[in-house]
Amino acid sequence: MKRSIVPSILAADFADLARDVRRVQSAGAESVQVDVMDGHFVPNLSVGPAVVAALHRETSLFLDLHLMIENPLRFIDAFAKAGAGLITVHWEACRNPAEAIGAIKQCGIKAGLAIRPKTGAEVLDPFLRELDMALVMTVEPGFGGQSFMPEMLDKVRALRRRIDAENGSCRLQVDGGINFQTAPLAAAAGADSLVAGTAVFGAPDAAQAFRQLQALVASIPVDFPSQSQVK
Ligand code: DX5
Repeated sequence: MKRSIVPSILAADFADLARDVRRVQSAGAESVQVDVMDGHFVPNLSVGPAVVAALHRETSLFLDLHLMIENPLRFIDAFAKAGAGLITVHWEACRNPAEAIGAIKQCGIKAGLAIRPKTGAEVLDPFLRELDMALVMTVEPGFGGQSFMPEMLDKVRALRRRIDAENGSCRLQVDGGINFQTAPLAAAAGADSLVAGTAVFGAPDAAQAFRQLQALVASIPVDFPSQSQVK
């Protein structure tokens, strides 16, 4: 499966999101991630459906929404209507993850499930066959610009094996502290979607940073044979 860098607009210029998104789109980005925060599930606030809808009017890029909000079921329809192509909810924030996944798919878009650093990969097992994306947070969610947690790499490897065994079409995403040093580690551990905010939009030239990061991760082999490759 093609490995992708997904720029996170959390680190973009909120006074000119459309300009920043066009910059990475011109560099070949196929999607951007919109981080939604409610001040309850995470100690920060970000954007709502109106901003997603405004962005959707300005770009044809696939919008990957990461909902860091309590009880996300309440907002799935609104974000889908605003233009989300994929909605990822947090396992820890759902009263019933299967219900949330079903509600996302009911909107005709892709569904993802995310876990915080202290949550084990095994909680995703019951849902892997239904998922289009499994997200391993490599920082504590809530803020951009944090340092990558290398202790998450074993969780990425374990999830890579689980996904290869259960549902090869599910993407394995990592998010948090992804940069030129950490992206190769996450890619080698089995991530095929890598969210980068500061490393892209914090760079002097976001388009160039995206291109370089994308080229860096494109050719990195996974550092262990997954079950589907071990005969
Ligand atoms: C944390 C956010 C960040 C963001 C990327 O809640 O999810 O991880 O997307 O931030 P950077 O790339 O700056 O760590």
